[in-house]
Amino acid sequence: MDAERVLVTGAAGRVAGQLLPGLEGRPLRLFDRTAAEHPGAETVTGELTDPAALERALDGVGAVVHLAGNPDPSASWAELRGPNVEGFAALLAAAERTGVRRVVFASSVHAMGAHEADGRVPVDAAWPPRPCCPYGATKAFDEAVASVATRRGALSTVGLRLGATVPEPAQRSQLASWLGPADLRQVVVRALEADARDVRLGAYPAVSANTRQHWDLTAARAELGYAPVLDSEEFAARVADDGTDTGVCPA
Ligand SMILES: NC(=O)c1ccc[n+]([C@@H]2O[C@H](COP(=O)([O-])OP(=O)(O)OC[C@H]3O[C@@H](n4cnc5c(N)ncnc54)[C@H](O)[C@@H]3O)[C@@H](O)[C@H]2O)c1
Repeated sequence: MDAERVLVTGAAGRVAGQLLPGLEGRPLRLFDRTAAEHPGAETVTGELTDPAALERALDGVGAVVHLAGNPDPSASWAELRGPNVEGFAALLAAAERTGVRRVVFASSVHAMGAHEADGRVPVDAAWPPRPCCPYGATKAFDEAVASVATRRGALSTVGLRLGATVPEPAQRSQLASWLGPADLRQVVVRALEADARDVRLGAYPAVSANTRQHWDLTAARAELGYAPVLDSEEFAARVADDGTDTGVCPA
């Protein structure tokens, strides 16, 4: 049987660049507003809010890894609303129409950032979302709108609250929330493959097995089968000291 085709949105971005080597062996289609490339992958260039472009991107697709969006935690509502709110709602509606089985989407630890900023760590994934900035609020909205879509139909969604998704942490404040490339690839594959009956929370922290952990991975381990292998402590002696261990939204 052929593996199902996976659409990766935001495929020209930084997270996708670290992820795509981990999706080898699956038929891939890439979507972005700027040209994206990966060996063997089909590409569709367009805007999330363009229904015709989304239809082309989703035609024949079984699962989506949704990364397109504005990743700037200091962005304003005006800058976030199109890509992070309207764009995601449009993608979900199109995925429901075209019969997609699973949408894995990039949420962010910022959706829970006020828990961390207030010192309630490690943050339990089952606590109510408590964003610390407009960016985090758009991610909390995305989690809510995904749960609505999941509830009313056949579509299954998994939100991944990505931490600092960089090849190596550069500052002390990233050590508690770092997500290294091998763990990024693993958690996305686990989220694509998890049985819908096991996905009880719908949104999970996605960080490495950091010694200075601020995010409780119990549910991600149990429900997705995520077993991170990296630890930011390996870099702790050489990161810049930016004066805080609270990486998401410093108080
Ligand atoms: N980088 C991180 O550390 C981090 C942490 C937490 C969450 N995230 C989330 O992960 C996702 C990817 O982040 P990134 O760092 O790769 O960002 P990025 O800016 O490098 O990539 C995002 C991509 O999405 C595309 N895009 C944006 N809006 C679009 C639209 N309306 N239509 C089509 N394409 C559009 C951009 O062209 C870009 O290539 C984002 O949703 C971000 O919020 C990232």
